[in-house]
This record gives sequence, structure tokens and C-alpha cells, in this order.
Amino acid sequence: MNVNQLLAKKQAGEKIVVITAYDYPGALLAEQAGADIVLVGDSLGNVVLGYEKTTAVTVADILHHTKPVARAIKKALVVADMPFGSYQISTEQALSNAIRFIKEGGAAAVKLEVMEENLPLITSLTKQGIPVMAHIGLLPQTASLWHGYRCQGRDAASAHTLMKIAGKLEEAGAFSVVLECVAAEAAAAITASLKIPTIGIGAGAECDGQVLVFHDLVGLSSGYLSGLGNGYEPRFVKRYGDAASLIRQALSDFATEVRGKIYPDNTHSFFMEAEELKKL
Ligand code: KIV
Repeated sequence: MNVNQLLAKKQAGEKIVVITAYDYPGALLAEQAGADIVLVGDSLGNVVLGYEKTTAVTVADILHHTKPVARAIKKALVVADMPFGSYQISTEQALSNAIRFIKEGGAAAVKLEVMEENLPLITSLTKQGIPVMAHIGLLPQTASLWHGYRCQGRDAASAHTLMKIAGKLEEAGAFSVVLECVAAEAAAAITASLKIPTIGIGAGAECDGQVLVFHDLVGLSSGYLSGLGNGYEPRFVKRYGDAASLIRQALSDFATEVRGKIYPDNTHSFFMEAEELKKL
């Protein structure tokens, strides 16, 4: 999958499927499910590393997790999320980290949570040949530091502002725009106004594609696992499976069989030849 093929999907009215992944088996499963884009999101911090906020995620964390994902993926576009603090200091810093995600991590593109102030940065990255997925609407990295998590574009003025920024991002060279927690009508209008695809998360059905966090959609998020996290799951999360129940059952069956001396049985053991046993 490349940037042009994604554009063609939008033109053909084919929805784009984006799934996050953070490790080799997760990426294999996402690709086997037919994901067009596999995103190594900074949601890594919440769903895998146990951080409270995504602001704690580091360049080293994203690099470490992009590598196994890139090794697993043969067809989908691998996008590495640029964590908080990895692109704010200077264009040089942003370029240097984006290049690391591509060169060392094996990603094909990077994603950045952006505001209007970041437009020149998007231009610089794309001019250097780095495909950029821009993330607007609710920006979890900064929202967690300021006003918290709120739906965006619910009034005409803020919807217009988002649409204006999205248009400028397209002009700056972004190959797609993630719309997070944006009123469905605003997201539909933004989608119609752009040539590049929009990828929604909590942004209604009219976006060109949809993204969900792997652990949320398979039922492994810390908010869902009892005893972990704060139990909170955003409204846009749809749980398509209950992997937690499957895994918990398998683990507890193992524990029961070990304690009951049922596992390992002969079929799961190795044995000596009779002659060797005699010598022993
Ligand atoms: O970090 C992430 O996984 C994301 C997606 C949910 C868009 O930013």
C-alpha cells in the first residue's frame, strides 16, 4: 500500500481500514484482517506500556515497537506516530526523529498531532520526502495537558476552523488527515472538501476510512480489563471481540492443570530410548 493507492481508494469510494499494532503478532493479525494501514500509535503508552498519558511515550518506545510491526507487515502502509516532544522543538528535531522512524523503525510514513502552527513543519517533512499523516480534532497529547478530552467541531465556527486547517494540511503535502472526536457533520464536510483521505475515529461514518486501537477493538484495553486502568472507554470504541476472556480462560486452565498435575501429559513430553533409560 502506498500513498497513491490510498488516494485511489478515496476516489473509488472504497473505505480505508486502519488498525493500530505494537508488536509482531498484533501486526500479523492486523494484516491478515486486511488492514490498509497499520499505525504504531502512541496509544502504545496507554494500552501496552501502562503509562497514564500518551505524553510519556518516547521516541525510543515508538522505535522499539515500530520495528517488529514493520517486520511483520508485507502489504499495508506502516505509519509511526511521532510522540509528544519529538517534533515540537525544531524542524531539525522533527526531521531527525521522522527519519529515524523510517530508517531504523521501518515505517513508511509518520503521523503527527497538529495545530495550525505546525503547517510549516508538515511542508518541511513532505519536502524532504517523508509522507505525513496529520491528526486534527481532539489531540490526546495536548488535550491531556489542558482541557481534557472533548468532541471538536460541534459548532459551525469550530467546524469551519477544522476544515480550513485540513485544507491547509492538504496544501502542505499531508497524504491523509486523521479526524479524532469530530462531530459527524463536520467530518463529512471536511471529507468532501479534501482530495486526500480522511481517517475517522469518533468522527462519524462519512470519513474515507476508520481507525481503531487494536486493544480496544479486540477487548484487551486496560479500561476493559477488570482491575486495571480506570474503566473508561470512549464512546466511539466498539468491541468486536472478547480476547480478554479467551486469554484469561487459557491462562487459568494452564494454572489449574499445573496444580492438578494434568499438564504436561505424555503427549507434551519427550522420552529417552529404553536402552538409554536402562543406562541411566
Ligand atoms: O495513538 C493512536 O493510536 C492514534 C489513533 C487512535 C489515531 O493516534
